[in-house]
Amino acid sequence: MNKVKPISIENRWDILYESYPEVYDAFVSVPKHPKIIDVLKDHFKFNDKIVLDIGSGSGDSTFQFSPLSKEVIGLEIEDNMRFIAEQKLKELKLNNVSFRKGTALEISLGDESVDMSLAITLPLFIESEIRTYINEAIRVTKKGGVIINVGIAPFCYGGDLAEVILGESKITEEDTEGVVDRIMRDEYGFSYFDFQSLWNYDSVEHLVSTYGFIFGSKAIDYIQKNNLKDITWTYRVHYLVK
Ligand SMILES: C[S@@+](CC[C@H](N)C(=O)[O-])C[C@H]1O[C@@H](n2cnc3c(N)ncnc32)[C@H](O)[C@@H]1O
Repeated sequence: MNKVKPISIENRWDILYESYPEVYDAFVSVPKHPKIIDVLKDHFKFNDKIVLDIGSGSGDSTFQFSPLSKEVIGLEIEDNMRFIAEQKLKELKLNNVSFRKGTALEISLGDESVDMSLAITLPLFIESEIRTYINEAIRVTKKGGVIINVGIAPFCYGGDLAEVILGESKITEEDTEGVVDRIMRDEYGFSYFDFQSLWNYDSVEHLVSTYGFIFGSKAIDYIQKNNLKDITWTYRVHYLVK
């Protein structure tokens, strides 16, 4: 029997990845100003590099890196997300992209096998797991290569609707993004910079059925009351040269 689709999954990203991967894909497949790759390519050299995209999801990040790199390997734990990426790859016919099942916590690649280890909004919440992922990303990266982690900046969960979603009180405590920031900078010596990106949806309904579906009823009410059609994200890029 088919389950009835809820109006929102209220921030349950595990449910999103497993049961509604097509909603995730619709959420990210919109015009972005700038795209993450346009910012990264101004800071890092991709040419002739083997790039690992950790937590590649439905492929949005992986496909962005493809035109600039020698080879891109997408690593993704959730079969249903990876299935969408593989379907898209068949249509796009890119011969330098591949996807594999696997976890950031035990990367199925040899030591020093890639030039760049990248993760774009990889969701890890437990401190020990964040450290394990960083150690693994460093292990598989060649000497002189770079480890790059692009996450949402601290206190910016949900983009410019952070306060609407979390409430004012919650955004004064250290959040998940803050934990990642502290570990990367204080324990591993990563450098960082922030940037903003505007994501355009073509209608209020499109924003509600993607972003609203994920971020919950408070977000949906706000979007509808204010006739919103876009979201601005603040990202934090952590990077470390090995
Ligand atoms: C927010 S999505 C980002 C997807 C993609 N990087 C993008 O920019 O659209 C996070 C992805 O990381 C995957 N993921 C979560 N934990 C993981 C882990 N331990 N190892 C590998 N992938 C993981 C999720 O299944 C999901 O597809």
